[in-house]
Amino acid sequence: MITPPTGSDYIAAFDPKAYLAECYDGPDEEHIFNIQFLVEAVQSLPPDLMVLEVGGGPTLHSAAAVASHAREIHFCDYVPANLAEVRRWLDGQPDAFDWRPFIQVALLKANLPATPAAVEQRAAEMRRKLTRLLPCDVLQHAPLGDCAGQYDLVLAPHCTDVAAATPAQWQQVMHHITTLVKPGGRLFIAVTTGATRNTVGSKVFPCVDLSVEAIYQGYLAAGYDPHTFQLASIPAAAKYEFTGVAYAIAQKNPSTHIPTTTNAINSTNSINPTNSINPTNSINSINSTNFTNSINSDRKTL
Ligand SMILES: C[S@@+](CC[C@H](N)C(=O)[O-])C[C@H]1O[C@@H](n2cnc3c(N)ncnc32)[C@H](O)[C@@H]1O
Repeated sequence: MITPPTGSDYIAAFDPKAYLAECYDGPDEEHIFNIQFLVEAVQSLPPDLMVLEVGGGPTLHSAAAVASHAREIHFCDYVPANLAEVRRWLDGQPDAFDWRPFIQVALLKANLPATPAAVEQRAAEMRRKLTRLLPCDVLQHAPLGDCAGQYDLVLAPHCTDVAAATPAQWQQVMHHITTLVKPGGRLFIAVTTGATRNTVGSKVFPCVDLSVEAIYQGYLAAGYDPHTFQLASIPAAAKYEFTGVAYAIAQKNPSTHIPTTTNAINSTNSINPTNSINPTNSINSINSTNFTNSINSDRKTL
């Protein structure tokens, strides 16, 4: 049976330990790519970013990737058990997940020494900078409720396509999350492609299948600068139902005017579809076996 997105059934069905055991059994190519994408994205940014991770689940690999550039990291999720799992790691509980192999990848991708001491140092930095764990619901206009602020960098890996039940609702989610991004700030998302469901253990979770073009249009409609849009994608590991993962980031327009979805898609904001899928303008498919070498040269802005 497919678990309905959101609601008490979703909260009851999402088991952080099962999710970590099944999807985070050592840094795989997807995790490594996610980390590398973020390490490169923050490289040119100031080192004092206010960062929010949305729908972070029980995971800290994205936080590991950006910690060196963060002043603070706030972390939110819909499922209280996920926040409790992150809290266990922050508190150094013995049953907490071991993020050290992922932190090691983050250091290596930033060309930093990845000795055990350096890994411990990055872990300590993450613990120091992860200052808030918050409940959130990206289906609400104000996903953080009263806690709403605006951030230089918002990370939403594998959340937008999971929370939304339809492409139209995904667009709403993009709008909602964008209220949390400062004008001129950046939104990073990762979405699975090629499937409308994801099975974790015995639970089946629905997700929205988005094309590269739909992701691009979604950013435009939510008020991001098309010239700053970057997208990369990789094939998924064979164990998953989805066939690929797409990663995207763009900078929110300094002016906060957000066009309506209909206007944005039908107006001059609409890009030439040929350009958006032209490999010279975007990475649509990086061979997962050699992406570590190709990401620097292949990733392009549209
Ligand atoms: C597939 S998991 C991804 C977890 C983590 N971001 C990662 O990269 O592995 C989807 C996450 O989205 C969260 N989520 C689902 N619906 C949500 C909603 N309406 N608002 C906020 N988060 C939501 C879930 O609780 C879960 O942690």
